[in-house]
Amino acid sequence: MDYELVDVRQPEDWAVFHSIRRVELFEAKGRFGVYNDAHPDDYADFARPLLLKHLGRGIGTARLDLFDVKTAAVRLVAITAAEQGRGHGRVMEQMIADRASSFGMQILLVNAAETALGFYEKTGWHRFAWDPDEVANSAVACIQMRKLL
Ligand SMILES: CC(C)(COP(=O)(O)OP(=O)(O)OC[C@H]1O[C@@H](n2cnc3c(N)ncnc32)[C@H](O)[C@@H]1OP(=O)(O)O)[C@@H](O)C(=O)NCCC(=O)NCCS
Repeated sequence: MDYELVDVRQPEDWAVFHSIRRVELFEAKGRFGVYNDAHPDDYADFARPLLLKHLGRGIGTARLDLFDVKTAAVRLVAITAAEQGRGHGRVMEQMIADRASSFGMQILLVNAAETALGFYEKTGWHRFAWDPDEVANSAVACIQMRKLL
């Protein structure tokens, strides 16, 4: 298998994970100096930080936040810029759904960046308003979506 979705635990995986997120989700959107690689949510009991490796190299990130016994949010989804548009995001999305199913999750939620709406639509997500407060408090324009597993 060329792909692995690893739980981020090792220092070298944390370094790649933070680097991809800082560049793709913050700096690429003009937000410099605000990414916090010690954010408590990444280390919370509900959080499962995930790194997609392709041929052994970290190229994608996501965090699965377990809300309850059947519902989870997928957050901070990114593929490193040089690897975007090559199908890795689609693979990662499926691997995240499989991982969530293995935890018993039945419902996935996301705050999709407006610019990534097409990606989520192509991978089986639908618009679904699940928490207006998260939209109001988001630093970037987003659309709430849901996927039933
Ligand atoms: C959004 C993102 C994760 C998608 O990963 P990717 O590896 O580029 O996506 P893929 O190549 O697997 O594309 C899968 C499908 O979605 C489509 N797609 C991907 N990104 C898209 C976008 N931004 N808008 C519309 N469609 C998109 C592709 O065309 C492809 O469709 P196809 O299979 O019919 O050809 C990645 O582009 C990324 O990290 N973007 C920057 C960060 C970001 O916006 N993250 C999402 C935050 S919610």
